[in-house]
Amino acid sequence: MQPHSCIIGTGHAVPERILTNAELETMVDTTSAWIVERSGILQRHIAEPGSSLSDLAAEAAVAALAAANTTAEEIELIIVGTVTGDMKFPSMACLLQEKLGATNAAAFDISAACSGFLYGLHLANSLIQTEGYKKVLVVAAEMLSSMVNWQDRNTSVLFGDGAGAAVLAPATDQRGLLSTYIKSDGRHSKLLFNPGGSRYPLTHESLDSNFACINMQGREVFRHAVVSMTDALHEALQRAQLTPEDLDLLIPHQANIRIIEGIAKRFKIDPAKVYINVDRFGNTSAASIPIAINEAIDSGVIKAGHIVGLVTFGAGLTWSACILRF
Ligand code: ACO
Repeated sequence: MQPHSCIIGTGHAVPERILTNAELETMVDTTSAWIVERSGILQRHIAEPGSSLSDLAAEAAVAALAAANTTAEEIELIIVGTVTGDMKFPSMACLLQEKLGATNAAAFDISAACSGFLYGLHLANSLIQTEGYKKVLVVAAEMLSSMVNWQDRNTSVLFGDGAGAAVLAPATDQRGLLSTYIKSDGRHSKLLFNPGGSRYPLTHESLDSNFACINMQGREVFRHAVVSMTDALHEALQRAQLTPEDLDLLIPHQANIRIIEGIAKRFKIDPAKVYINVDRFGNTSAASIPIAINEAIDSGVIKAGHIVGLVTFGAGLTWSACILRF
């Protein structure tokens, strides 16, 4: 068995266009005050129509490769967490591989909605340990704006677009992934879904009625989010033989400020140790955690030696957590 793995470089990218709450007020029956109070979101980045998510993913990946002092040819495996790939097939990972020129890699996507990045870390960590991979690129990229019904105030105010990336390698010291945990419960799949697959092929009717967009029971998802993220963080801490007090920073999935505050309260974590950028990016699904990690590294919030907890939940339902020493 190889040693555990560590993140040796990160990057992120978001579209230039910012959609503010004030602009949303002109598009759908909502108010900025409601959005801020119920979700904590002030603005989100939205891709221009016709742009490719794989371009955004490539921008994040190039930044991560540079930070890791790694060339694309050195990457042996590319894992992309996404539910909004450029096409149904081929995978985003293969499209990204071509854009990066990562000719020596195997590449595949995983579908775990907002948990995509942490599922990717879990898998990359396992494969580094069991298969001996030396350089693995984990990317999470989402363009949920492409499946939002902009007339649905329950969902259109929540989501943003973005991409984040991390290069993983075998750890050479105490730094790295101390534990990972993934879990799901398909009994709750109807709470949050996007049709358009083989069971619900796109039709004129589904497009006209907006059934083909994101369907969400927000209040129920909220309830499950708090329970499942609590389970995930508890499990990951236990596996790392650590307690909440050991965390220097908690990076929760940036879906809603109230969910984030609920988790921090349950674990009695000082709010100053909880990373928040949902106000600027909204919910970027799988990209949320790697965007936050990269920001926290670049701004010096994460320092060498820090123990950081990552925790997320998403459609499926899926949930996951990871404890790292940087
Ligand atoms: N503007 C104004 N009013 C609104 C809006 C809006 N944008 N959206 C809903 N309302 C109204 C509702 O119609 C309702 O009105 P009523 O009382 O007259 O019926 C009222 O506000 C309260 O609605 P709730 O749905 O109960 O509001 P809640 O406090 O639960 O907040 C929210 C809604 C923000 C969606 C919250 O439930 C939430 O964040 N849930 C989690 C969603 C989430 O994280 N989804 C992503 C999962 S990750 C992934 O895999 C993509």
